[in-house]
Amino acid sequence: MPKKLFVIGVGPGDPDYIIPIAKEKILISKYIIGYRYTLRTIENFLDKERQQIYEITMKNQELIYQKVYENMHDNECCTVPFTGDVNFSESEVVDRLLEIFGNENVEIIPGISSIQIASSKSRVPLDKSHIITFHVTGDIQQKKIELIKSVLDNKSVILLPRPWPNDLSKNFMPADIALFLKNNGVNTREIDVWVFEYLTDKEKETIFKGKMIDLENKTFSDLSVMVIDQNKRQTYLEF
Ligand SMILES: C[S@@+](CC[C@H](N)C(=O)[O-])C[C@H]1O[C@@H](n2cnc3c(N)ncnc32)[C@H](O)[C@@H]1O
Repeated sequence: MPKKLFVIGVGPGDPDYIIPIAKEKILISKYIIGYRYTLRTIENFLDKERQQIYEITMKNQELIYQKVYENMHDNECCTVPFTGDVNFSESEVVDRLLEIFGNENVEIIPGISSIQIASSKSRVPLDKSHIITFHVTGDIQQKKIELIKSVLDNKSVILLPRPWPNDLSKNFMPADIALFLKNNGVNTREIDVWVFEYLTDKEKETIFKGKMIDLENKTFSDLSVMVIDQNKRQTYLEF
């Protein structure tokens, strides 16, 4: 077997949300490369004696991915764990891993996303929502236009804000979003909104529920999900 990479979603933080096949792939991997938060989520399944574990940052990730790929031998496996579901808001990194390891040598294992937990808690179904991630380094102008359209169309929106600690002008956090929508014709006094911080963390999780206008002066953690709730419940009895 050639070198193998598992790209795995490990859920929003609480290890109870890690699915069994993800644990299995982590256990058979000799190399583990991840960000601090994600490595902490899977720490109970790691074995420092047997595995080579690399904690990465945005700055050094490219170097480490390349170094590990070069050092690996055939029949060896590497895991790169991602928060939540690896298929949501991670493609800037996943696409690079597919380039380095080669598409056919990579297996992607989905995970439980923070937006699924937010959907569960707010009772706003994913299939009746517009899902947007602003947590990208690329341009978000088009996504902002889509956001206004959906809200004015009375759709619910589940979104990841954009924290950008080193350049506040690039931030698009709940307070910025509330002001942005107000300045673009949305009556933010009427719009119901939720902000969930630190989902699944038994000690730190918080839930804000109120009107969009209430967010203007509020700050939230980088680890937050926002739900614009315009959901109308509709059961099979109506059809
Ligand atoms: C790069 S995105 C990754 C999203 C992830 N793939 C997912 O499916 O949840 C990182 C953002 O996800 C959101 N996030 C991830 N875990 C979270 C948690 N436990 N609570 C709240 N938000 C979370 C936050 O908005 C965070 O800034």
